[in-house]
Amino acid sequence: MTIRSVLARHPILVPLACAAALTVVLVGESSYWQSEGVLAELSALRAGTARLEELRAAPTEQQADIHRTLLLNRLGVALLSVASLTALYLYLRRGLALEEQREREKQERQRLVQIERERLEVEVARRTEQLVKLAHHIETAREQERARLARDLHDEMGSLLTSAKLDAARIRTRVATLAPEALEPLTQLIAKLNSGIALKQDIIENLRPSTLDTLGLAVTLDILAGDFAKRSGVQVQCALAPVRLAEAAELVVYRVVQEAITNVSKYARARQLWLNLGIIQGQAELTVRDDGIGFDTNAATNSSYGLLGMRFRVEAEHGSLSVTSAPNQGTLIRVRLPASTEAPIPAEYVIAAAASAPGHPRSQANGADHDFPVSRQG
Ligand SMILES: Nc1ncnc2c1ncn2[C@@H]1O[C@H](COP(=O)(O)OP(=O)(O)OP(=O)(O)O)[C@@H](O)[C@H]1O
Ligand SMILES: [Mg+2]
Repeated sequence: MTIRSVLARHPILVPLACAAALTVVLVGESSYWQSEGVLAELSALRAGTARLEELRAAPTEQQADIHRTLLLNRLGVALLSVASLTALYLYLRRGLALEEQREREKQERQRLVQIERERLEVEVARRTEQLVKLAHHIETAREQERARLARDLHDEMGSLLTSAKLDAARIRTRVATLAPEALEPLTQLIAKLNSGIALKQDIIENLRPSTLDTLGLAVTLDILAGDFAKRSGVQVQCALAPVRLAEAAELVVYRVVQEAITNVSKYARARQLWLNLGIIQGQAELTVRDDGIGFDTNAATNSSYGLLGMRFRVEAEHGSLSVTSAPNQGTLIRVRLPASTEAPIPAEYVIAAAASAPGHPRSQANGADHDFPVSRQG
């Protein structure tokens, strides 16, 4: 019976038997190799034990060598650790020293910067003071020149025009009978001379308001405000106390008001203007307020010197000036100046003087009959 025929007869049994036989062989092989491994370990253990016995029996010199080597190793490790720690310490100390040096340099730089800043601040203060003094000097010289011009115009040109007018009047009386046809041109000449005299008076007043010396600051401002109301149609409300200031300071106040109302007529498109002068906390205070379109006070202007000039002039008189404004909020200019120690002008005198001042406008806005209150009580 061939293998093929046996297989054909037992197609399941024979493979199963083969598999079982193979398993038995494999298990047997595995047990064999495990036993072999155990035997090998046992012989290795035996060899190790024999070596240990040998070593125990070895001479003490070898032990001493090993001991020395171990000691040296120990020492080497300790030395290496100390060296490493020392290197680390040196490295850290150097870093710290560098940091300290950097900090010292930084402090030194800061100290130098501070010194430089202080020096510059002193320099700026010194230069500002010089500029204020220079502005004061220039303004004083300008006012003196204006006063001299006004005096010359008044004395020289005034007397010239007045005498020419008197001559013309005298000639007119004479030619009335001799040459009546010359009367008309002579009358025109006298009218022109009168216009010339009025123009001269206006120029003199513009150069230096004579009322400042004769009637005082409050009245002069009142007249200025009235003229402005008449010219511009803006309603002006004044509350002007008879405040006394140093002569130069009074002129500064006058110029400030002049500049402020010029600005109002140029830019503000205002309907009302309030002009106040009084004493507040022992100081003279002037305010000029309008209800116009206002402006951004932080916006830089290139060729505007009006407000700047005002500030310089006020500061040169030991005062202060502030401008408060914003678009569509109107503009307020406030000036504080040291009041004069002299006694104030009696209020009754100021009111009477204002009422009798030539061309004094009580209510002249737009030609309408507006109330133009002028309060002169301190
Ligand atoms: N009352 C005001 N209402 C609106 N804008 C104003 C008023 N006053 C000043 N300003 C604005 O502030 C700017 C500066 O005014 P400032 O008087 O210094 O110069 P300026 O009038 O332009 O020139 P300058 O006075 O030198 O002839 C003006 O150009 C204007 O725009
Ligand atoms: Mg101006």
